[in-house]
Amino acid sequence: MSGRRMCKSALIVMGLLGVMLAPFASGSARGQAGGGTVTFLLPENVTARWEEQDKPFFTESMKKYAANVKVDVVNALNDQSRQQSQAEAALTNGARVLVVIPVDQVAAAAIVKEAGKSKVPVIAYDRLIKNSPVDYYVSVDGVDVGRLQGRWLESHTKTGDNIAVVNGSPTDDNAHLFNTGYMSVLDPLFKSGKRTQIGNVWTPGWDPSKAQQEMEQILTQHSNNVQGILSANDGMAGGIIAALQAQGLAGKIPITGLDATLAADQRILRGTQSMTVWRSLREEADKAAQIAAALVRGRKPPESLFPNGKTVNNGMVNVPWAPLRPIVVDRTNMAVLIQDGSIGKGQLCNGIPHGTGPC
Ligand code: BGC
Repeated sequence: MSGRRMCKSALIVMGLLGVMLAPFASGSARGQAGGGTVTFLLPENVTARWEEQDKPFFTESMKKYAANVKVDVVNALNDQSRQQSQAEAALTNGARVLVVIPVDQVAAAAIVKEAGKSKVPVIAYDRLIKNSPVDYYVSVDGVDVGRLQGRWLESHTKTGDNIAVVNGSPTDDNAHLFNTGYMSVLDPLFKSGKRTQIGNVWTPGWDPSKAQQEMEQILTQHSNNVQGILSANDGMAGGIIAALQAQGLAGKIPITGLDATLAADQRILRGTQSMTVWRSLREEADKAAQIAAALVRGRKPPESLFPNGKTVNNGMVNVPWAPLRPIVVDRTNMAVLIQDGSIGKGQLCNGIPHGTGPC
């Protein structure tokens, strides 16, 4: 056998091996049917929803729509540069789709850019990523959420009351959308003097312990003269309520929330938190999984996920938007969480007096 012929047959064998192995090589299998990895990038672990709900719900739904696709879940612990490295590692390891909850809505554009280089689509999950060619967005309308919180607080306070506003993380698009929503209700009340704003603080990383400190300061500055608290989510409400408890005020001041976390639901049943806003996280995760599963197969996601061709503009592109419906949850309708499968009755009612809400 001449050297040239040997070389040619070796090439043929290598070529054949390549074809046979391609479906197993995650990096080179992009766009092909089946296999591969989808990476779910969580933002932090100081808010219960991400690890306790979104993670298991998304993993479960991916099994339903793409059983042969592996789901990797990483958590940035509120550190944008950590999230950037996690995204880069996922791309290097051949992830086929990134599902990102950005820590920083602006800085995360670098993740989208990096993914674009490898032709890996990015789904912005729950939080939008600004000024970048994001492929899809799955989220509730944040302004609607804020409006529900604001209206609730308006109707549970009276003329002359002092209201403290505790906003979420300044780097999260949602925190601003929620703020737009509740301020559309509260600002006119502040301007007309029907209510007095006695605090308006932003909470880096949505950190409950920071929210607690913020509330302690507000209480001190105003000698505990507070009659209503707008807390942008449940995690922070937990911190704020701890501050109220220390002054013997827990359960005496109306306070809002968001997410219907187990801890918040139990506080609502015990009477220390007044309400929460809820959208089904099971549904949110399921919609994202449907999109991711389609993308892994190189297909377009089902159009039914984007009613009336709904999009959101992120400063660069109109991103197709799969929406969710927010509702107010309090003691009277908490059974909806059990019906949705978000929470088990046993879990919710553990330690709660019989006859309270759905317990
Ligand atoms: C989410 C909330 C969550 C908050 C803190 C927001 O972007 O919409 O559900 O409580 O982040 O993680």
